[in-house]
Amino acid sequence: MTRNGKIALVIGVLIAIAAGLWLSELMVGGDGGPGAVSSSGKAQVGGPFTLVNDAGETVTDETFRGRYMLIYFGFTFCPDVCPTELGIMSAALDQLGEKAEKVQPLFVTIDPERDTPEVMSRYVTLFHPRLMGLTGTPEQIAGIAKAYHVFYRKAEDESSTDYTMDHSSIVFLMGPDGEYLKLFPPQTPPDKMAETIASYIE
Ligand code: NI
Repeated sequence: MTRNGKIALVIGVLIAIAAGLWLSELMVGGDGGPGAVSSSGKAQVGGPFTLVNDAGETVTDETFRGRYMLIYFGFTFCPDVCPTELGIMSAALDQLGEKAEKVQPLFVTIDPERDTPEVMSRYVTLFHPRLMGLTGTPEQIAGIAKAYHVFYRKAEDESSTDYTMDHSSIVFLMGPDGEYLKLFPPQTPPDKMAETIASYIE
């Protein structure tokens, strides 16, 4: 294993631990802050957002009403975790057949500094023709990440001027009214993801 490989492994483990902590907090409800469970017993995930799509147009959560949203947070410079998950989402959509038309796949960057609409536009087409990239101001991205309890952090690389991002790797399924339905942990098999999504679509 190369030095970079080891670093990637350590980062991967840290992200897995962070995701695990996040999941456990989400499930037990936490302290009323992020991860709190509403009186209906459902975890509060999601909510209003305003972002910019990969065509440079402003979109909000209302833009996608009537469709299911399949949302993943990451960044285009991600070496392997994001491409893997976007590949899984794309394969799941293909397996859904006609039902996929009711699903809007979304890739939200947590690296808006580098991921402009143009960069996002080029990137999403590598995965699926219907995948839409969303970016925004750092404040807009911080807002949606908080609403979805997504962790991210810039990780400076001392050996270069470049940086990478640590981030949680979870796919969210939201319903036609914007309500949270389901989350998929990293490396969920595409057929399992497709089956779960299909179970929500009439
Ligand atoms: Ni990533």
